[in-house]
Amino acid sequence: MNNNIPSTPGKFKMDKPPYIHRFRWHYSSLAKLTFWSVVFLGLIVVFFFKSPSTSPPSPNSDLSRRSLKTTSWGGPAWEKRVRSSARIRSPNGLSVLVTGAAGFVGTHVAAALKRRGDGVLGLDNFNDYYDPSLKRARQALLERSGVYIVEGDINDVALLNKLFEVNPFTHVMHLAAQAGVRYAMENPNSYVHSNIAGFVTLLEICKNANPQPAVIWASSSSVYGLNTKVPFSEKDRTDQPASLYAATKKAGEEIAHTYNHIYGLSLTGLRFFTVYGPWGRPDMAYFFFTRDILKGRSIPIFEAANHGTVARDFTYIDDIVKGCLGALDTAEKSTGSGGKKKGDAQLRVFNLGNTSPVPVSELVSILERLLKVKAKRKVMKLPRNGDVPFTHANISFARREFGYKPTTDLQTGLKKFVRWYVGYYGSGKKGDH
Ligand SMILES: NC(=O)c1ccc[n+]([C@@H]2O[C@H](COP(=O)([O-])OP(=O)(O)OC[C@H]3O[C@@H](n4cnc5c(N)ncnc54)[C@H](O)[C@@H]3O)[C@@H](O)[C@H]2O)c1
Repeated sequence: MNNNIPSTPGKFKMDKPPYIHRFRWHYSSLAKLTFWSVVFLGLIVVFFFKSPSTSPPSPNSDLSRRSLKTTSWGGPAWEKRVRSSARIRSPNGLSVLVTGAAGFVGTHVAAALKRRGDGVLGLDNFNDYYDPSLKRARQALLERSGVYIVEGDINDVALLNKLFEVNPFTHVMHLAAQAGVRYAMENPNSYVHSNIAGFVTLLEICKNANPQPAVIWASSSSVYGLNTKVPFSEKDRTDQPASLYAATKKAGEEIAHTYNHIYGLSLTGLRFFTVYGPWGRPDMAYFFFTRDILKGRSIPIFEAANHGTVARDFTYIDDIVKGCLGALDTAEKSTGSGGKKKGDAQLRVFNLGNTSPVPVSELVSILERLLKVKAKRKVMKLPRNGDVPFTHANISFARREFGYKPTTDLQTGLKKFVRWYVGYYGSGKKGDH
């Protein structure tokens, strides 16, 4: 991970080197310098305006080195590929733009949509928040099932406009985000860039599209923050986020309300509860516990105040995928067109959890049994870095609206995860991730 990137766009200032004052400039040197500067600037201008398939430079140029990198796009062959991937192949199928398609949830959702005959186009910037080779492997997996992932950033207006011009998406499944609670203390601006600025950019494009797509997007159980009423219901307060990540997801919910209210966009937010499974995220506890147990490293087991148990409502990826598809299938059409609202549109928020919180120590015991290795447990106090001690979803709303009913318990789901993990990384002794 590149930690040398200045965290605030445009704030990075170089100090003037002291030796600069020692130079005495002659007039001719100055004229030469001016001449070559003009030539150099001219070349830069020509370079940017001559290349139609390169998106314009972003205002977030510090982030661009890491995540706004845009590979070339455009041209007839590229458009053909986009169209083919997004083409609906079943009666009453949808045409879905899946952002974050090279991510954990995005890959599973895109594959499931493709399997049932929907048109699917992926979009992902392949950033290096965690090992990009895992994202590339997911990309290869989707490629084999006919899903093309365009490499680009959700802040790239020209690219998004082009995608909607090439294909009229009926739905957007927006899963691209800067995830992770703890990393927000290290790189706060990446959360603003993807979860706030990127979301607004995407909604701007969607509200201008004709027809407007219905948008289904990933919020998070983290919006419940310091809420103590359990199980968490969609009606509970969400105004006490415990991390910047949670705050950006909460902001997303308010932003969604605005676009629904002003432009008639149909918007559905999904609050996922600790999703796990094959092709998962290496920054999540179940994943790096598996790696560290296999490598004989100690693993931190957090406990809440007064030796309280830390527990999570772990939700298996297949159950989350069913929830995403249920939300897509019950999403009503947006009512606006070309940026103008024509009537009230649907606005929903659902919990997608498992309704069965499990202590993290129990998660470790299951992993020990599956891996046949004893973990080196290091019990520690839960640090105040954004994690909450407990999550527990009330899922009755999703059950009522689209029959959401999780069916995989933690033991069964982890077994599938471990099988995948060992198949992908070997028995864990080699390599790191
Ligand atoms: N996995 C969970 O337990 C969980 C829980 C709650 C909410 N969520 C949310 O669900 C969604 C999917 O999560 P995930 O676990 O698959 O995470 P992930 O990190 O595996 O996937 C997100 C993908 O989005 C891409 N991305 C990030 N910023 C982007 C940008 N600006 N432009 C284009 N692509 C960008 C990343 O490269 C990544 O591939 C996220 O919105 C996340 O916040 C996940």
